[in-house]
Amino acid sequence: MKFHHVDSLYIHFPFCRHLCNYCDFYKNVPNDKDLEYQNFEESLLEGFSELQKLFDKNNSKIKVLNTLYLGGGTPSLWDVRGAKFLKNFLLERNIELSTSAEFTLEVNPGAWTADGLSAWESTGVNRYSLGIQSLDANFLKIIDRVHNIDDVFDTLKFFHSNNLHFSVDFMLGLPFSEKYNRDIIKELKEILEYNPEHISLYILTTKAGYIHKDHLPSEEYIEKEYMDVSNFLKSKGFEHYEVSNFSKPKKESRHNLKYWRSESVAALGASATGFLKESSIRYKWKVSKGEYVEEVLTDDEKRLEEVYMGLRINQLYDFSRLIENSERLNTLLDEWQELGYVAEREGSKVSLSSGGFLVLDSLMNDLFKYDLI
Ligand SMILES: C[S@@+](CC[C@H](N)C(=O)[O-])C[C@H]1O[C@@H](n2cnc3c(N)ncnc32)[C@H](O)[C@@H]1O
Ligand code: SF4
Repeated sequence: MKFHHVDSLYIHFPFCRHLCNYCDFYKNVPNDKDLEYQNFEESLLEGFSELQKLFDKNNSKIKVLNTLYLGGGTPSLWDVRGAKFLKNFLLERNIELSTSAEFTLEVNPGAWTADGLSAWESTGVNRYSLGIQSLDANFLKIIDRVHNIDDVFDTLKFFHSNNLHFSVDFMLGLPFSEKYNRDIIKELKEILEYNPEHISLYILTTKAGYIHKDHLPSEEYIEKEYMDVSNFLKSKGFEHYEVSNFSKPKKESRHNLKYWRSESVAALGASATGFLKESSIRYKWKVSKGEYVEEVLTDDEKRLEEVYMGLRINQLYDFSRLIENSERLNTLLDEWQELGYVAEREGSKVSLSSGGFLVLDSLMNDLFKYDLI
């Protein structure tokens, strides 16, 4: 029997030291750390057995990993304990990391130790994603980060002086940006002195009732901030390779590219979502217990997702795979090109420019309007 080999795994660690006021990821501050970490570890063991049943049913196997991503929450808090647990977890389940595997750990500047990082390194971590958000002390307070600006610089110095491969998370559209004239380019210039090989720049999204909702910058301000940042980073040798991501050449997040290319990814941990491409199954772990909810995508949902994901990255997306009405498609692509939304085009193959990334949702609406998807 032919098996589908799933070679990417995401694990969600659902704890933080303190909750930032904007964050919508699944996480808690533990009351009894030992007990709650133990419950979490047990949920991974049980979850893996469940996952194996799902994989067996769908002729899929997880054996050699090319990408492993430990996100959260704040997985750097799991520290030496987590590194040891995960090493045994993989060993006992016969899961190997390939020799060229990318293993990323998310690190919060206020929640890591040198011992922890060295233990993670011996478990195979070779890439870090640092949650910096801003290099301006005032904005760190406004968004209620657990760390101060000194922690941020200590973290950057540590990673730079130890020649570690790292990415930084930054956020745009922060509250009070307009009022206090946030100088994000100055912040990024400073960050670049520490030589990150990858930068994620997320536009802040908020829910109704957000504590600073009356102080969010205008749409025009955010659009300008996004384009300024993109132009600046491109002038410094970064590629704008995905809507919210920039990398030095060949330093893209290989794990996240799996999602954007609609490939299979295994997932474990409350709220984590996995995908089995060949069976079109998406599953999401419940937050209450070690159970997942399974959904089989319809052909229409798959098409829609493939287009949306395909347009997010700076590689030519071939519409002819899905769209038959080439005349109507060409007219629309000509329009996009005239408006500056296209970076490259070869007939029905298109990649978007940074300006196109910015208006991706409205481009998707165009595809609907023209009855193309
Ligand atoms: C789940 S967090 C994990 C990182 C780590 N916990 C930290 O904050 O240092 C991943 C990234 O998502 C981004 N993020 C979280 N909430 C967001 C929001 N509401 N809007 C935009 N980006 C957000 C932040 O840049 C954050 O670093
Ligand atoms: S530390 Fe990270 S995961 Fe935790 S609340 Fe803040 S942004 Fe969210």
